[in-house]
Amino acid sequence: MVHFSLLSATAGLLAAASLVSATPVPSNQNEEPRARIVPFVNKHAVARSSESYNHADVVERDLRRIQRRNELADLRKRSGTENVKVKRTAAALEPYDINTLRKARMTKRQGSAADPLVNNGDALYYGNLDIGTPAQTTTIDFDTGSSDLIVPSVDCANCTAPFFDPSKSTSFATTNQPFETAFGDGSTANGVLSTETVAIGSLALQNQPFAVITQASVGFDGPNAGLMGLAFPTIAQTGATPWFMALANQGLLASNVVSFYLSRQGADGSELCVGCIDTAKFTGEPEYFPLTPGNSSQKYWDIATQGFTYNGNLVTGAMTATIDSGTSLIYLPPSQAAALYANVPGVQAHEDGKHWVFPCANAGSIGTFGMVFSSTTNFAINPTQFNGGPIEQGSDTCSGAVVSSGEENGVALVGDAFMSTWYSIFDYGNMRVGFAQAV
Ligand SMILES: *[C@@H]1O[C@H](CO)[C@@H](O)[C@H](O)[C@H]1NC(C)=O
Ligand SMILES: *[C@@H]1O[C@H](CO)[C@@H](O)[C@H](O)[C@H]1NC(C)=O
Repeated sequence: MVHFSLLSATAGLLAAASLVSATPVPSNQNEEPRARIVPFVNKHAVARSSESYNHADVVERDLRRIQRRNELADLRKRSGTENVKVKRTAAALEPYDINTLRKARMTKRQGSAADPLVNNGDALYYGNLDIGTPAQTTTIDFDTGSSDLIVPSVDCANCTAPFFDPSKSTSFATTNQPFETAFGDGSTANGVLSTETVAIGSLALQNQPFAVITQASVGFDGPNAGLMGLAFPTIAQTGATPWFMALANQGLLASNVVSFYLSRQGADGSELCVGCIDTAKFTGEPEYFPLTPGNSSQKYWDIATQGFTYNGNLVTGAMTATIDSGTSLIYLPPSQAAALYANVPGVQAHEDGKHWVFPCANAGSIGTFGMVFSSTTNFAINPTQFNGGPIEQGSDTCSGAVVSSGEENGVALVGDAFMSTWYSIFDYGNMRVGFAQAV
């Protein structure tokens, strides 16, 4: 049994400060890379009732993430590195201009080789990332709920392919400083802090700090190989500015945003728009909400929510909503989850204390749930997405997509079950999150 070692993780954190910052790859073309759409390909074409979607596995994975997040916060506090300064240049503060984005979408780059991404039963969305020279392509969970780039190497027996082979890259450099990350269940992933050329299509940075994973005590991460964190540097265990924010800080993006379109029921068309907003993927105008606290202490993509609604009525208290593409479902403090379901006919608290359940046959008729942020708009969740699927495989009892996080911390962790109804724009330039009705 591998035990979490504070010492080596702290060594990693301290070492990270000496890593060089990422630099842009010199462009052969006159035109700088500005934006990139990474399309999601629906490989499995699964709906939630299918065998390849296992609700229990999804919840287990999400809860591991939550625990890991808590451990990381704790670790950073103890190691005194909590307030890493967020570097934001003037470029990062340029106002977002939707016309720039429309233009960006229309450039010929959009037509260049598409990186296939996969909608894994609406529970996990992932796509390709190029790393090294020549480029090695791996699969990545693009995660707005963390800030490190973590890629498994060929040496990692318990990791998921496609692996990265440092010996085959001319641009790989390592600090030999250990990187160790612990999950709440005691499992770990270990590696070394390194730097590499990291690219999505023509959007590329050299010397991007990342962790190359060489050993994991259990499967990491699967079905995708690695993780790319899109949250703030304050929570980067590597101490590095995340790839997307480094691109933005250097003025290399058409707009300093990443936007997600997450398809429903295994449908085609999901995508990540890096440096852009894809107006083909939503209707109406996006509505934006400021980040809290909205300053250099920012950790996650947090915005204020007045609470959750049931059939249009506010039924929970106010919370901080963390908008997290790397979490499948929606997690509320137990008291708030109980309040949400309290007056919903035919819904019962499950004996496990985490879920609220109903007959799958009633999924379409239990009513509509939603969220209200700092405006009067009710952001209703598509009922098919509110149905988290059978509580166990083959069961005709289904679980709501809102699950208890087990912690009275005032935080709503809002994952793909919400984002698949609402096109989500993570606007670093203006420190805000926008939502528009997804197609
Ligand atoms: C791989 O994971 C299993 C448990 O799933 C563990 O027993 C084994 O030690 C791990 N292998 C390595 C090389 O860490
Ligand atoms: C950020 O804002 C919060 C809340 O207003 C405040 O407590 C904190 O001190 C601020 N941090 C910085 C670095 O400005």
